[in-house]
Amino acid sequence: MKKLFAATLAITAFGALADDAALIAETRKTALAIPPKLLQMVQEEIDKGSLHGAIAACSEKAPKMAAAASQTTGWAIRRVSLKNRNPEAAPDAWERAVLEDFDRRRAAGENAAMMEKAEIVSEGDKRTLRYMKALPTQALCLNCHGGPDKITPEVKARLTELYPADKAIDYREGQVRGALTVKRAL
Ligand code: HEC
Repeated sequence: MKKLFAATLAITAFGALADDAALIAETRKTALAIPPKLLQMVQEEIDKGSLHGAIAACSEKAPKMAAAASQTTGWAIRRVSLKNRNPEAAPDAWERAVLEDFDRRRAAGENAAMMEKAEIVSEGDKRTLRYMKALPTQALCLNCHGGPDKITPEVKARLTELYPADKAIDYREGQVRGALTVKRAL
């Protein structure tokens, strides 16, 4: 009898784990669809030769895209960075730890494009699914996130005007620029 009880418990726990894995897979799939759209949007503006348009795309369309995805899913989706440009893109404690881990792994030679993290965090009886996908700095990002040799004086002036407390410069290709982050209440 005792054995049967233990077996039932084990099956229940396994069922819960399988459910969690399915929730993580679903969240991941939705989140992973967003960065390529952001990249395409910036690339299109840059191809048009309009860095001004690209800045507008980043400052207006990118947050709108995250807000629309949040509305459709009911999850909180946004971008964060340890050196944020938008003052609202500062990470919380969980996100900060993950970003610091991404940076350590990158410094050890890992490819930032492959980095992600998923965890179900419990606080009392509240469970939250947390997911982050690293956004690597690519060559085109340096137009607005690179060093003084990459950012033109016009772009610099516009960025300073829009973001007086901008920290998101001096990146090099391959570094972790930030991450897409999802918070989903379960
Ligand atoms: C044309 C200029 C421009 C280019 C190119 C650009 N960004 Fe940005 N980026 C911005 C601006 C402006 C913001 C602030 C957006 C906001 O207000 O939310 C920003 C914000 C971000 C953020 C949110 C965190 C923060 O610092 O506020 C991330 C992450 C980010 N960019 C990553 C990238 C990546 C990765 C690329 C290359 C694929 C890239 N950006 C290319 C201008 C640019």
